[in-house]
Amino acid sequence: MVVNRQQTHTTTSQRFQDQVVLITGGTSGIGATTASLFLAQGAKLFNTDLEERNIKSSLGSKNVDFYKCDVSSPEDCEAAVKACVDIHGRIDILFHNAGILCQPAEVPDQDVALFQKVLLTNLGGLFYLSRAAIPYMRKQGKGSIIATASTSGLSGAMALSPYAASKAGIINLVKTMALDRAKDGIRINAVAPGYTNTPMTAPFAGLPALRDAMLSRIPMGRAAKPEEVGRAVLFLASEDASFTTGHVLPVDGGTSADCSGAPDTIKHLAAMQG
Ligand SMILES: NC(=O)c1ccc[n+]([C@@H]2O[C@H](COP(=O)([O-])OP(=O)(O)OC[C@H]3O[C@@H](n4cnc5c(N)ncnc54)[C@H](O)[C@@H]3O)[C@@H](O)[C@H]2O)c1
Repeated sequence: MVVNRQQTHTTTSQRFQDQVVLITGGTSGIGATTASLFLAQGAKLFNTDLEERNIKSSLGSKNVDFYKCDVSSPEDCEAAVKACVDIHGRIDILFHNAGILCQPAEVPDQDVALFQKVLLTNLGGLFYLSRAAIPYMRKQGKGSIIATASTSGLSGAMALSPYAASKAGIINLVKTMALDRAKDGIRINAVAPGYTNTPMTAPFAGLPALRDAMLSRIPMGRAAKPEEVGRAVLFLASEDASFTTGHVLPVDGGTSADCSGAPDTIKHLAAMQG
């Protein structure tokens, strides 16, 4: 006898059918790749960035709007969320991914203006966008917010104090907002990528000693591809993560699992044992 099994899960291709996704920093690197993954799974994309670049030609114009938004500006963030809701009538998923690095320098030598810019872009952006989006999500009775943190927010990052502080701030803001909104059906999570091949890290290619030093700290021995981070974002945004909130998901080839300083530590230990 043939039993017709009822399908209980949507297929991956339908996961975000007609869901409205606002992305920041969506025309480059992790943001652009994640945008294309959402689109491929049926989402309507409200893409934002400092500049449009050629994003419509690379993603196609079907189901894609572009809106210019500087996430360090509370006014821009509010206007972007409002424009998204004006066009689509809702905002299901907010992915705050825009971010900038800082020049390496210890605190006495860090530039104050740069410290403020990094904090306002990386952390301020999440606060401003969430502040604007949450009232709409509460009315909808559901929503999902995901932020791009970093392994630099899970532990310290030598000489990168503005960046590390901004990403640690993201992690605690995510957890706090998740607690505040759990009763509203709004889930709030973060991904914490390690070294990922994007335009942000492209200059490392010309600095082989630095690149090799960074790779040597990654147990899986390579940098992430942007789509590996994007797939983690889609998981957190989807119904597959329906009971997950306040979580930070490292996407780092094992880096944050290791506090031994491998592989150098292992080499020295082995030498000690002869
Ligand atoms: N590449 C890595 O190794 C790595 C590791 C951990 C975390 N991250 C984080 O991933 C996120 C994406 O970075 P990426 O690696 O794809 O780099 P990227 O430089 O390719 O992308 C960053 C995007 O943010 C946008 N942006 C910068 N300032 C902005 C502002 N004020 N308003 C709006 N948009 C702004 C840029 O225009 C760009 O499109 C960042 O938050 C970054 O900190 C990256």
